[in-house]
Amino acid sequence: MASKQHPQSARHPQVISLLREDHREVERLFERYWQAHQESEKDELAAQLSKALSAHTRLEEEIFYPEVALAIDEPLLVDEARVEHKLAKMLLAEIEAGEPRDPHVQVLCEVVNHHIREEENELFPKVEAAPIDFDELYRRMLQRKEELMLSLDLLPLRPDQDAGKRAHGRRHQA
Ligand SMILES: [Fe+2]
Ligand SMILES: [Fe+2]
Repeated sequence: MASKQHPQSARHPQVISLLREDHREVERLFERYWQAHQESEKDELAAQLSKALSAHTRLEEEIFYPEVALAIDEPLLVDEARVEHKLAKMLLAEIEAGEPRDPHVQVLCEVVNHHIREEENELFPKVEAAPIDFDELYRRMLQRKEELMLSLDLLPLRPDQDAGKRAHGRRHQA
């Protein structure tokens, strides 16, 4: 294909790096889920997956998608992405409702992997080429990500934080 290839040195907006990091984290959680043997470990990993997916999909739906849908020449990609989020949430709800977990996690994994590939291979290159104020968008997303992670108890504690700060974050959840 004659499509433009980004050289290693090309601008790679922090916004995209932030979302890609989330994707890698979700993939790691799925991998750990499949490697886990104890039910208690699988319970914990399924709960972590649910939180990580919730934080990531909300970040995209609240800030990233509305911004990029206006800026790219194929906004249908964003509509499709929203439908895939809905599918993932439906599967998570079934898992939380006590439906057989492994088959639901398996289908969730397939839906999420497909979704990640579409975002990274189709949507993100269009976003990178669009006239977007990436610095401003990154600031908003970073702030919202921290809020979401605090409210979902996902933020790893830094040395200067204590459990009280986490509790404070939870009390102020969105
Ligand atoms: Fe994503
Ligand atoms: Fe997404």
